[in-house]
Amino acid sequence: MPLTTTGELITRARAAVTAFNVITLEHIEAVVTGAEAAGAPVVLQVSENAVKFRQGRLLPLARAAVVAAQQAAVPVALHLDHVQSDSLLRQAADAGFGSVMYDASRLPYAENLAATRAAVDWAHSQGLWIEGELGEIGGKGAHAPGARTDPAEARSFVAGSGVDALAVAIGSVHAMTTRTAALDHALLGRLAAALDVPLVLHGSSGVPDHELTAAVAGGITKVNVGTALNQAMTGAIREHLDARPEAVDPRGYLAEGREAMARTVERTLRLLTPS
Ligand code: G3H
Ligand code: ZN
Repeated sequence: MPLTTTGELITRARAAVTAFNVITLEHIEAVVTGAEAAGAPVVLQVSENAVKFRQGRLLPLARAAVVAAQQAAVPVALHLDHVQSDSLLRQAADAGFGSVMYDASRLPYAENLAATRAAVDWAHSQGLWIEGELGEIGGKGAHAPGARTDPAEARSFVAGSGVDALAVAIGSVHAMTTRTAALDHALLGRLAAALDVPLVLHGSSGVPDHELTAAVAGGITKVNVGTALNQAMTGAIREHLDARPEAVDPRGYLAEGREAMARTVERTLRLLTPS
């Protein structure tokens, strides 16, 4: 199947598109396997932090993701996530990504807007779909506990920056290991009414199922999941090694980690993809 793009998937989606963060080849294989089992399209995301973990090199993981997407039985898009570095941003198109998320949310509003505007100009010149993130004035990260996106400010930000999608802070927090986040659905309703671009939920691992489905019904169009995969992988590997202290071949525990991630992907896609 040809590699697709996040923009194309979102345009076609009747509900939301789910994007999973990948760090290793096993993550990539698990996301594709889980999406095929669910019969759903999916986005493979590589974050700037994942690139740092891969010794600062984007291409080895990106090349693997491109080939995995091309060989998948379901549509798969590639997205470069939480990019802060301009040099990484500029590698996106050549590395095979059809979309990027440019994250200047740590900056005060005016600087975030100016930096995102410049990123949007470059991304659009390359044919890339680009997501921005709006944080709280004062430079606090948009997903720090308590941070929220203001609808009027978001409207100005989208108009001024030209982003194709906006990550909004409505109560989710990155890297939660318990699914206890409570979303502000009234705020989501106001954001959806104020904005005419797709809205993105980050930190979705910490959001319970009923809150996720309500968020999608209320206007979230892209759901980002990362930590849930790492929890599944690490839990399965820990269990495998605890039961086999003599194990040396990584294929034994990596296979179990990969299967656990694939089950998480399939379950999440069955929850969020309309049949
Ligand atoms: O951009 C990535 C996501 O926001 C993942 O967040 O690891 O908390 O699920 P999470
Ligand atoms: Zn995120």
